[in-house]
Amino acid sequence: MCGIVGIIGKTPVAPQIVEALKRLEYRGYDSAGVATLEGGKLERRRAEGKLRNLETKLSQAPLSGIIGIGHTRWATHGKPNETNAHPHATDRLAVVHNGIIENFRELKTGLEAKGVAFETETDTEVVAQLVTYEMRQGRGPVEAVAVTLPRLRGAFALGFVFSGEDDLMIGARHGAPLAIGYGQGEMYLGSDALALAPFTDEVCYLEDGDWAVLCRTGADIHDETGRLVQRPRHKIQSAAFMADKGNFRHFMAKEIHEQPEVVGRTLAHYVNFSAGRVELPFALPFDFKDLKRISISACGTAYLAGLISKYWFERLARIPVEIDVASEFRYREAPLEPGSLALFVSQSGETADTLASLRYASAEKQHTLSVVNVPTSTMARESNVIAQTLAGVEVGVASTKAFTCQLTVLLTLAIAAGRARGTLSAEAEKELVDALIGVPGLLSEAMKREHQIEILSRELSKAQDVLYLGRGTSYPLALEGALKLKEISYIHAEGYAAGELKHGPIALIDETMPVIVIAPHDHIFEKTVSNMQEVAARGGRIVLITDEKGALETGLDTMATIVMPSAHPIIAPILHAVPIQLLAYHTAVFMGKDVDQPRNLAKSVTVE
Ligand code: AGP
Repeated sequence: MCGIVGIIGKTPVAPQIVEALKRLEYRGYDSAGVATLEGGKLERRRAEGKLRNLETKLSQAPLSGIIGIGHTRWATHGKPNETNAHPHATDRLAVVHNGIIENFRELKTGLEAKGVAFETETDTEVVAQLVTYEMRQGRGPVEAVAVTLPRLRGAFALGFVFSGEDDLMIGARHGAPLAIGYGQGEMYLGSDALALAPFTDEVCYLEDGDWAVLCRTGADIHDETGRLVQRPRHKIQSAAFMADKGNFRHFMAKEIHEQPEVVGRTLAHYVNFSAGRVELPFALPFDFKDLKRISISACGTAYLAGLISKYWFERLARIPVEIDVASEFRYREAPLEPGSLALFVSQSGETADTLASLRYASAEKQHTLSVVNVPTSTMARESNVIAQTLAGVEVGVASTKAFTCQLTVLLTLAIAAGRARGTLSAEAEKELVDALIGVPGLLSEAMKREHQIEILSRELSKAQDVLYLGRGTSYPLALEGALKLKEISYIHAEGYAAGELKHGPIALIDETMPVIVIAPHDHIFEKTVSNMQEVAARGGRIVLITDEKGALETGLDTMATIVMPSAHPIIAPILHAVPIQLLAYHTAVFMGKDVDQPRNLAKSVTVE
């Protein structure tokens, strides 16, 4: 994730901005920069690498402006070098950006057709040039930003300062966090409260779609329709800065909403957005084309991510995959052909059964690759290859953002395997990568179903038992939905392959049994519609999670239909994780459960 800082101050702000950026170093970065207003003109200092390189530049050529923005960049579009470092600027403005503008290519083409010349390959410069173009048409800075924001697709946060404006800063949030800090005659912008801690303990978190116009005496906050809105101000206790829940009641809620940003950041680590292809950030000690089989082993939600990836590896790379829960794999003494790939998935990298399975596989001369969120974990240290998820710290016991980041990494691995084995053409890969690039924006869009889901959860909270059904990659998602619900609301829930309904579970169906059906409109959609008709015929109450096309074609009365954005079938399980996470979360909250620390559960099961 990149880091954004902005200050409208009373004294030179460059040193303060660098201090604030240091508090965002935990987010990871490979270049940094500052822009301040010097005598009405914007001046920049940028440097590749760590902040000390930027400090060296500032000591050689100090900036004295009392308004400015700063940025630590995690390269997505364009190499990590000084040219591509933020802030990006024109003669009218400077801008810093966290996240992905997924439609940047079409916007750039449109501007180039109008004669706009670009200096960099970044999506951020497209934003700078778009707003500048509007200002050249006679619009003021605020109006120019207001008309530009709706044209941007993806998950992002932005900060702007303008030539000749020493009391104006604009911030915008769409899927990536952004906070406003209130000082004494000073105002601040930051990716999180931690960055603003040196200046203030009074912060306000923008909501998705919000944009804010800051001056020294305060901020006007607009929602995505442009309406002026109020957002709550929080007094942040210093000790809580690192474990800050932001606007959320629980860490689980915050982590669900962080998914657009952290999936985008994880994607950026595995995909070259400009080239539109997967580029793994590590060397492999094997060649996918030589592999005869992949074995996967994990626990809980991580196991279900692995189960979804089985469909992807087999479909995209035509490689057989065997998958086990780790507690079974470690004891069944599976015969493994030396030189095959053993793949492990674990948020913590410390789960005892998964670690034991890793050690069994190593002893059986397997290549070991672990998808982990903690790069210093035991599993990371003992694996031949670490495929890191960049979900950030996951505090809630129920795994959410780690799950979607695991899926993201696993899909890039399956695509790389398909390319290596010649089972995936360049155009097929490009189609899949384009679908992946759209995921952060779709996740951000999916959050807009939250109010409907919250209402529905009150109904669901009355249930004794709940059945989740799905086919294809929606089947492991049905299992995950059931796991989420039972582990935080304590309602008994069971996930089933929809095609198995008539082989037993249909006996459970009556009007007391909610049935959650996960069915995007894909090649097996009609089969699941038949299952829903069987449920409806027995009085079962259906909650359908589908897309626009699926909602139109179902033709059934449901308890509720959650219509998700239409998406490429391959990424549907990543997107549809959001409604099942929100449904479990709001049901548990309505029931007054301890959502972040459910009874009997630990965040990492480090014992058998
Ligand atoms: C999922 O919500 C649970 N917290 C649990 O099933 C978890 O996924 C499992 O214990 C595996 O943990 P790991 O990813 O750290 O290995």
